[in-house]
This record gives sequence, C-alpha cells and structure tokens, in this order.
Amino acid sequence: MLIKKRTGIEIPSSEITPKSVYLSRRAFMGATAAVAGAAALAACAPKTDLTGAGSAARMQATEAAQVAAAATAGVTPMPTATPIVIAGQTDEQGNPLTEYESVIGYNNFYEFSTNKEAVAGRAEGFQATPWQVAVGGLVNKPGTYDIDDLRARFTAEERIYRLRCVEGWSMVIPWLGFPLSALLNEVEPASGAQYVRFETLYDPERMPGQNSPFFPWPYVEGLRLDEAMNDLTLISTGLYGEELLPQNGAPLRLVVPWKYGFKSIKSIVKIDLVDEMPMSLWMEAAPNEYGFYANVNPEVNHPRWSQATERRIGEGGRRPTQLFNGYGEQVAALYDGMDLAENY
Ligand code: MTE
Repeated sequence: MLIKKRTGIEIPSSEITPKSVYLSRRAFMGATAAVAGAAALAACAPKTDLTGAGSAARMQATEAAQVAAAATAGVTPMPTATPIVIAGQTDEQGNPLTEYESVIGYNNFYEFSTNKEAVAGRAEGFQATPWQVAVGGLVNKPGTYDIDDLRARFTAEERIYRLRCVEGWSMVIPWLGFPLSALLNEVEPASGAQYVRFETLYDPERMPGQNSPFFPWPYVEGLRLDEAMNDLTLISTGLYGEELLPQNGAPLRLVVPWKYGFKSIKSIVKIDLVDEMPMSLWMEAAPNEYGFYANVNPEVNHPRWSQATERRIGEGGRRPTQLFNGYGEQVAALYDGMDLAENY
C-alpha cells in the first residue's frame, strides 16, 4: 500500500523499487504475457461524435480515425501487453501495475502530438535539464527553483496511483515524487490565496504541437488551494524508479489521482497562487465539456460518451469507473455540500 495518506507510512527513497528490479521481476511473468488485439484497442477509443464542431471534438475525431486506421492496417497498436503482476506491487485495491512500455508509450501530450503512440517518438531528445520552476503569486516567499534543488530538497516517495483519462482508459502507475503541499508550505501561501495555477513550458520550437492554432497555449491547469494541499496531490519527478521521460512530462508534472488525467499537467515551469479560479486550457478550448473540477465521476457523462466504465490498459473488457477514481475516503470531504453534478 503505497498511498501515504492511507497508511501513514512514508517510503524512504532507499526503498523505492528501481525500474531494473521491476523489469527483472517482470521477466518471470513473461510466460503469462498475452497480446490483446486491435479490436480491444478500438474499444478504448471514445465514442466520438464526428460532427462535433469544437476544436477538441476535431482532435478526438482525428485520434479515433488514427486508431481505426491502425487497427484495419493490421498494425499492432499500443497498448498490447498484460499488466505486471508482482506480489506486493499493486495499488491499495490490489490492482497490478500497468506495463512500463504502455506507461511510456501511450501518452497524451498535445505539445508533441495528438496521436498517443507518436508522442514518445516526437518528444525524444527533448532537453528537460536545465529546468527552473517559478513559484509565486500570493505567497510570502516566492522563489525560482532549479529541478536539481527540488529533487535534493524534497525526498522522493513512491506512490502507486490509478490514472483515469477522460477518454475512458486507465492505468496503474508507480510514481516518484513529493506532495505539492511540501513545496507550497515552503513558499507560504498568503491570506488571499485560494487557488493554484500551473503552466507548462511554452516553446513551440521544442514543443512543435504548440504551433497548432486549435489550442490556447500554453497548457494551463488549476486546483483549489485545499485540493492542492491534499496529501494525495503529488509533484512527480519520476516513475518506475527512474526520472520522468519527456513523454510523461519531464522533469516535473502534477499528479492528481482523483481527477481526470488532463488535470495532471506536464512539464511545469510556473506555479502561482491566485485569488480567482484559473481558466484552464481545456475550459477555454472546450467549454461545453468539463469545468474546473473534473473529478472522476461515473455518473457525470462527457457530452459525447458515458463515463460509467473504463478500459484498464492491458486488460480485456471494461471495468466500472469509481467515484473520485476510488480515492473518496481521502478527498470526498473537500466537496461536502457541493452538488457534484453541477460542479463538474
Ligand atoms: N499536460 C500537458 N502539458 N499537455 C497535455 O496534452 N495531457 C493530459 C495530462 N497532462 C497533457 C498534460 C492528459 S489528457 C492525460 S490523460 C495525462 O497527461 C496523461 O499522462 P501520461 O501520458 O503520462 O499517462
């Protein structure tokens, strides 16, 4: 059980499992590996309304078409392999980890590509060091942190979290990182601070997807301050015992496991505490879809598909989606008195 909040156990970095150990353990599981077919992948694609007018609808339509084309061309698309089942290496619900190759090979990172299987290739060679992140706004002690300082100052813990994408697929990922609250406590939120606004690097030469006119770059996300201070909210600098690769948001990203994956903003350069609810890239690009909260909720459908079930990458079939992605015990109190169907 590697959720600190549930167990109260901090995982010292000396006990974090390096990727080589995960992978050598996995070798024992090789005999059980099974290949899911292209048909299963097609089932993972959202039920897209191809007549949708918004830019997000166009992007999703493109993606669905790419998936369908790969399937009919006989290409074996990602993800295909079974999850890694290692004794003691599951999430707190007993779910096995998603295979490493899928975690680093099936990505959403529109700054590089809208095709999940192309992101890793397009992001290859992206230089994530040197890197600085400016933390400011309504704080008493603003600061600009070098990624190496952050790594040295805040000891990495391992947290195994479920990641539920709004598109209807999910993974179980062993992240490395530190609670965002540790960083926010250091800069000391001032009395007027109510929200936290995050911004991804804007550099269209290094992130060619930012030349697309369909999105209001840079990618921006936000959390309420109490959500940001919740112990589950992680600044991740690695996964599977290693530093983040560019496709996963190197060198640092947010991970908010009870919200749809798009809230987990990658390659952050700016964190500001603010007094008003920030406007995220997705709120601006697709105002008819999700709002600021974007909590995983099987009862609040996307305008074009149901969120009642999801496909766990590496599994056949679909499984029920859990309210707050199964983290209600830790986070439901944040929304006491709020109508979750209204505040989605
Ligand atoms: N952050 C930025 N800057 N750009 C993106 O396109 N995609 C989001 C999120 N963070 C995205 C992003 C979405 S939709 C998801 S599901 C997750 O990243 C995927 O993270 P992963 O590729 O590491 O699994």
